[in-house]
Amino acid sequence: MSAPPSATGRARISVRTLRTDRWWLPPLITFLALLAFVVYGVIRTFMNQWYWVPEYHYLAPFYSPCLSAACVPGASHWGQPAPDLGPFVPPPIFVLPFVLGFRLTCYYYRKAYYRSFWASPPACAVGEPHRRYTGETRFPLIMQNVHRYFFYAALIVAAVLTYDTVIAFRGADGGFGIGLGSLVMVVNVALLWSYTLSCHSCRHLIGGRINHFSKHPVRYWFWTKVTWLNGKHMLLAWASLVSVALVDLYVMLIASGAFPDPRLFN
Ligand code: FES
Repeated sequence: MSAPPSATGRARISVRTLRTDRWWLPPLITFLALLAFVVYGVIRTFMNQWYWVPEYHYLAPFYSPCLSAACVPGASHWGQPAPDLGPFVPPPIFVLPFVLGFRLTCYYYRKAYYRSFWASPPACAVGEPHRRYTGETRFPLIMQNVHRYFFYAALIVAAVLTYDTVIAFRGADGGFGIGLGSLVMVVNVALLWSYTLSCHSCRHLIGGRINHFSKHPVRYWFWTKVTWLNGKHMLLAWASLVSVALVDLYVMLIASGAFPDPRLFN
């Protein structure tokens, strides 16, 4: 018979865990994948070049919207309200806090990095190395509650990337055209919208605080769709993270002249 839990709520067992499976594998994979994204993001942010293909109007998602006076001509579709603050403050810095804030406070990503970076706990039924657990009741983690506001910012970013995608259907002669770049941007923006709309805050915004769904058929209809998406939130979080990095890499390669954009039309 197992010993009763201790006064701190932890099971009184002498070993860290009784699990015999490879419980450490998922947090390790998550750690490596998130670390790879962060390393790519930092390199790309401070690279400060190869983010705009004027011929086809491809704008790399890491540099969109390009709001700094340091942005190359043509890349700023929404003006340049931010000043050029030199190479240590490249254009993505002005948008990054909103994009990163949305991901960092996301309910799924919290689970991912609490487990893989803080080991708090690293897996179910595995003791954590920390002596005390205060969860999200204190600063700074209590700030996770601002997630819903980052959701509003994420809606704007998704709309901006949608605009980028529409104008990326441009041919070399300035008319309509389709290239591989246009298509991968469509996939990316679809995944970004799916991830954003599958957000728990979005689901609450649409269907929360309603006592009678029957009196709100339109909101109920949207709530069922968002709920379906919400069930795939983890998958969409990863898919959109990978797609945004790959599309950014693709635009970088085209802009740098590594290879020409395969054209389907014009
Ligand atoms: Fe993940 Fe809102 S809960 S984006």
